[in-house]
Amino acid sequence: MGFLCCYSVFICFFVLLLTGTTSSQQSNCPFNYIYHLGDGDSDNGNAIRTLPAGLALPAARLPYGETFPGRPTGRWSDGRLIIDFAATVLGLTRLKPYLDTNTSPNDGVIFAVAGSPVLDRSFYLNKGVIIPTNVAPLNLQKNWFRRYLNSVCSTPTDCADRLGDSLLLLGDVEGNDIRYPLLQRKSIQDIQTNYVPFVTQTTINTTRELIRAGAKRVIVPGNVPLGCYPSILSEFPSNDPTAYDDLGCLKSVNNLVLFKNTALQTSLASLKLEFPDVTILFADYYTTVETVLSGSFISWLVAEPAGFIIMTEEGFVDPWARQFALIQELLPALDCS
Ligand SMILES: *[C@@H]1O[C@H](CO)[C@@H](O)[C@H](O)[C@H]1NC(C)=O
Repeated sequence: MGFLCCYSVFICFFVLLLTGTTSSQQSNCPFNYIYHLGDGDSDNGNAIRTLPAGLALPAARLPYGETFPGRPTGRWSDGRLIIDFAATVLGLTRLKPYLDTNTSPNDGVIFAVAGSPVLDRSFYLNKGVIIPTNVAPLNLQKNWFRRYLNSVCSTPTDCADRLGDSLLLLGDVEGNDIRYPLLQRKSIQDIQTNYVPFVTQTTINTTRELIRAGAKRVIVPGNVPLGCYPSILSEFPSNDPTAYDDLGCLKSVNNLVLFKNTALQTSLASLKLEFPDVTILFADYYTTVETVLSGSFISWLVAEPAGFIIMTEEGFVDPWARQFALIQELLPALDCS
């Protein structure tokens, strides 16, 4: 589970991105619900509710949740997640994990489960790649979503109205579809050829299905630069200096992520043509995180050491951070005012 701990550091980077925006701004958006399929970046309590393995996960104990809300909630962060900040900006703060039985029909719902891949368990079984027992591949999360919808709306029209009245976030999930095979010694070339096309197709097919069911606003994020992750860097050390870029990240892994992100963007562009009336947005987490890791961020940290808050979120209010507020960029496209 060590890699998941490294994950949380990155989630804190994400948290930094949005902190500057929460207190000052809240938008009125033309939708009333948020539904989110994803992995540990947005899991707000599902993985720890998957029994029996869940309770033993790191996110079930401190320091997770230490800063907010002061106890572990199942978020893979010491505080809020990017979606918590985004929800505040959007004015829709009631977000419940799907596996929390205590939800009301008015809540936004997060179906994300930490460690989940896009591709099904059977796909990995065929490839001889082991994935954890408690994760929820995208199709399973989609089925949960449909089951949830059926519990809060009665007819297909009713459900389409509810979906049309929501913001749907689909991912990011697929970092795990690279991580699992990579950590189990599948080659970059193998993953690029035999996994990525199915990951993209499955993501697109799921998006299409949910649009056909009524979704009108969908955000599909791309992956972060996995080649900068501590877990990946320590797992694949290289003596060759040219293996690393100038941020010290593994080029081969980041190039694979970029290949995958580009494939996703290309397919999303076709999907937009298929559904011209639907707002389909790609969120570029890769560039955002790369910018955070770049020199300007480091010099800002040096200049303002009190702001060096990797594991806590409180008190981080700096205009510099706002340029990374990805969601702010997306707001106009969502017709929020
Ligand atoms: C996606 O949908 C297309 C068209 O229905 C289908 O041919 C393809 O097999 C699907 N891909 C995956 C990976 O499910």
